[in-house]
Amino acid sequence: QEPGDFPAGDIVFLDRGDGNSALLHLHGATLISWKCHSVENLFLSSTSVFDNKKAIRGGVPIAFPNFGPWPLGPQHGFARIKRWTVAVPPTKDAHGDVLAVLTLEDDEETRAMWDYKFKLVYTLVLSEKKLVSTLVIHNTDTKSLGFTTLLHTYFRVSDIDKTTVEGLKGLKYIDKITGGKDVIETRDLVTVDRNYDRVYKDAPQIVVISSGPEPSRKIEVKSFNFPDVVVWNPWDVKAKEMGDFDDEGYKEMVCVEVGKVVTPVTLTAGSQYECSQTFTSML
Ligand code: BG6
Repeated sequence: QEPGDFPAGDIVFLDRGDGNSALLHLHGATLISWKCHSVENLFLSSTSVFDNKKAIRGGVPIAFPNFGPWPLGPQHGFARIKRWTVAVPPTKDAHGDVLAVLTLEDDEETRAMWDYKFKLVYTLVLSEKKLVSTLVIHNTDTKSLGFTTLLHTYFRVSDIDKTTVEGLKGLKYIDKITGGKDVIETRDLVTVDRNYDRVYKDAPQIVVISSGPEPSRKIEVKSFNFPDVVVWNPWDVKAKEMGDFDDEGYKEMVCVEVGKVVTPVTLTAGSQYECSQTFTSML
């Protein structure tokens, strides 16, 4: 995915000029590309709809103020289907690192679903082989609010059969496919070979996604204040059922999503919650 594929007014491009870049779409502040030395690390479905209404299928959509089905509004909340504002356009520092900031505030539409005033500040800092994404949720209301949130990252892999996720051993997970609760993960290296939808609780701060063959990728995800990790892949049947998901795309992606989803956050009036994920390419 290249900046030229999208109308210039819809995107924010962080470019170090050395093959390390990040591309954001203002619809949902969805990160749709992160390249390290010209290798794309994010999956974006070729059938994703870009109508500024539907959530983008791929990259890193943001779930807020709710992860999963939501009685008050759309699944995964509204942040991924709202147009965000560029607060700080891409700005390079003396080392060539690039920062950009996007924001989202409540409006009539969000208050009709969820009657709270809030401000989200999403800051991205791109370095060589590294991207830090920080989300700060501000309660700008005069009452407390509660939310869950998650960064729904679709990692690109060259072969799902040769992909592992490390760091989840010993954790309890909810299996959203079988309904299993508090199942214990016994594997050092988690592999995905079916319709997979698991919420791992109280994960360590670091998980590593490794995949091959060419291009091999090894990406460390380091999280802060995102204690849960969701691993998702729709596999063949469910991929075909989704109109915006490439039929064969499930072979080239795995979602590893850091979030605060098992226990909601309560924010008192005027307070804030900061959470972040840092991707580092280890190769
Ligand atoms: C995952 C959820 O995070 O997102 C799954 O655990 C869900 O249950 C998936 O199917 C995709 O959701 P959506 O709304 O983007 O189709």
